[in-house]
Amino acid sequence: MAAFVIIGTGRAGSAVARLLVEKGWQAVGLFSRNGLSARQLAATLAGKDGEIIAGVPAEENLVTACCRASVVFLTVPDDFIATTAEYLAGIFARNSLSLAGKLFLHMSGSRGLEELLPLKEMGALVAALHPLQSLPGEGGEKVLPGAWMAVEGTGEAGERAEQIARLLGGRVFSLPAGGRVFYHAAACVASNYLVVLMDYCLLLMEKAGLAQEQALEAVEPLVMGTWSNLRRLGPEKALTGPVVRGDVGTVAKHLQALAAEGWDGFYRTLARAALELARRGGRIEGDKYTEMRKLLEGEKGQGGEKNEPGDHGPA
Ligand SMILES: NC(=O)c1ccc[n+]([C@@H]2O[C@H](COP(=O)([O-])OP(=O)(O)OC[C@H]3O[C@@H](n4cnc5c(N)ncnc54)[C@H](OP(=O)(O)O)[C@@H]3O)[C@@H](O)[C@H]2O)c1
Repeated sequence: MAAFVIIGTGRAGSAVARLLVEKGWQAVGLFSRNGLSARQLAATLAGKDGEIIAGVPAEENLVTACCRASVVFLTVPDDFIATTAEYLAGIFARNSLSLAGKLFLHMSGSRGLEELLPLKEMGALVAALHPLQSLPGEGGEKVLPGAWMAVEGTGEAGERAEQIARLLGGRVFSLPAGGRVFYHAAACVASNYLVVLMDYCLLLMEKAGLAQEQALEAVEPLVMGTWSNLRRLGPEKALTGPVVRGDVGTVAKHLQALAAEGWDGFYRTLARAALELARRGGRIEGDKYTEMRKLLEGEKGQGGEKNEPGDHGPA
């Protein structure tokens, strides 16, 4: 049974901790910035798992916990990974602790192994393991199995990180060198910005008279059907609707109604992208394309774009 420490018991850290404990691993240290989430997580794991040091990442506790662990996860926000690694390296150096054979992992999709350099320089094994999944907090451990997991690490570090990814139920893959930033931007589009898109849809549904719960239920078959078309046909053929049909009058009606609320900016941006996708697929061209493009570009000041997408105020 392997023992592990989590530094950063937020959404990702707590999901990984719960799943590893479920798989028979032992949590020996849980830490967070103000200690609260770490203690709460420890309380849910206590009993299954023996003694857990939980709280703020104070030196003495970190040293005790990390000495007992074979794997340490740095699941703090991306911007704090490097400073956390540096802080840990300083502590281990001051206490003359050997890091040989200990694996330090971060779970960021956007950052590489350079973030963990101070630990590597002290003899630690370092790797990155990014689950391509959205972990919103509650129940994150249930959606980790089956997720694709990008693993980066060389030699023993890479092998052990891969084993952990498989234990979590991940489908392991590696990113081509230099691909990280685009990969992570793509992941944000697929998850975070899909939420933003659907939030906009819900705003319009509410204006149409459908409450959020009802609207979510109503659009689910539409969204899932579209997803299935996309998988089967690819984007160029899966696109349907007034833009690709060249129904300029319908799009003009949408714009008029949305502009009256100050909600047309996001629609125009998306519809322009749809128009270019339709053209790329050879599905709209010539005068129809030009007419639609003119409509979507609109006159300056014509749209009442009061709000940014997502910032539509209280319902
Ligand atoms: N959530 C996801 O969907 C997801 C998916 C894949 C990968 N990841 C990766 O997982 C990592 C963590 O993301 P997250 O979404 O779990 O973030 P999060 O929910 O905001 O959690 C961050 C955790 O780090 C702690 N923290 C913040 N600053 C700290 C510091 N200076 N020292 C010690 N602890 C600190 C926070 O403490 P408090 O609890 O006290 O605030 C919290 O426990 C990131 O690298 C992210 O890219 C996240």
